[in-house]
Amino acid sequence: MVDVALKAEQLAKIYGSRRAGAQVDALSDVSLTLTRGKTFGVVGESGCGKSTLARLLVGLEAPTSGSLAINGEQVHLKAKGDNRTLARKIQLVFQDPFSSLDPRMTVQRALKEILRVHGLHRDDLDGRIRELLSMVGLAARFAERYPHELSGGQAQRVAIARALAVEPEVLVLDEPTSALDVSVRAEIINLLVRIQDELELTYLFISHDLSMVRHISDEIAVMYLGRVVEAGRYDQVFETPLHPYTLALEQAIPVPDPEHERTRKVLSEAPAHVQVAKATAGCPYAPRCPLAEPICGEVAPVLQEKSDGHRVSCHVALRH
Ligand SMILES: Nc1ncnc2c1ncn2[C@@H]1O[C@H](COP(=O)(O)OP(=O)(O)O)[C@@H](O)[C@H]1O
Ligand code: SF4
Ligand SMILES: [Mg+2]
Repeated sequence: MVDVALKAEQLAKIYGSRRAGAQVDALSDVSLTLTRGKTFGVVGESGCGKSTLARLLVGLEAPTSGSLAINGEQVHLKAKGDNRTLARKIQLVFQDPFSSLDPRMTVQRALKEILRVHGLHRDDLDGRIRELLSMVGLAARFAERYPHELSGGQAQRVAIARALAVEPEVLVLDEPTSALDVSVRAEIINLLVRIQDELELTYLFISHDLSMVRHISDEIAVMYLGRVVEAGRYDQVFETPLHPYTLALEQAIPVPDPEHERTRKVLSEAPAHVQVAKATAGCPYAPRCPLAEPICGEVAPVLQEKSDGHRVSCHVALRH
């Protein structure tokens, strides 16, 4: 039997008010099941709702509807207030590491603070801090540093140490390397892989870059305008992509082959805004889709299983 760490069902988030006419459907009917100790990759271009999903899962925002269970226990997703119980189970690592670090606190104080908030003060607090720093590959002397004395990569290591301090079961990694120098990205990925092995952590790894999630994910969901349009095991999504958008993402991955590069199709521009697409009936991808048929403009496809857990929402892909 699959050991489920997290199960989200039909999460939706609407920003703004319907009455004011300024409504954004940032997330619609997103359901995910994360297997313990594995990495679930979420990919989609900017604005498709990835960070919204991350914030809902860790309780930074309440969903408009939907439910979340961690370790089989239903989580009460509150709009505001104390989400400490949830924070002990699931932590978020942001794209910009400096956004999660207080510029006035040394690394040591930041780590002490989170341990204190969660009642995890141990007798040997300094020892625990050294242990956390060593886990993320930082020497003990980094404890004395302020955020502005850290490089982007070092700051992201500290942010990861802070997330690990509460001994969570799930880490949500929201584009954890996108803001870093290309030269340190692989180091951070390798670090995350090593930590996952050591601690048997479950990851939700978010990226706008399919080539990034490809290397580390066991399962993948492809998102488009707030919805999952394809999902499955990583080999299913990469070897037999079903949705035209997944295909376009794959074709947009640069490969070191000049001939391939010359003939590579470039992904067409996304519609300006979620609202635009939601205003039209039918498939949200239709305005960009090379396979669109008359039915696509009229009836929205629903995410359905095509084979062995491989799911897609596309009229054409489901028919063939
Ligand atoms: N607080 C907010 N208020 C209104 N709209 C928002 C808010 N946060 C995000 N959005 C909108 O929701 C959509 C999804 O955003 P986001 O989750 O940040 O996407 P991603 O992380 O994939 O780039 C975008 O259209 C964005 O403008
Ligand atoms: S349902 Fe139609 S428009 Fe939408 S992705 Fe499939 S073929 Fe393209
Ligand atoms: Mg984002």
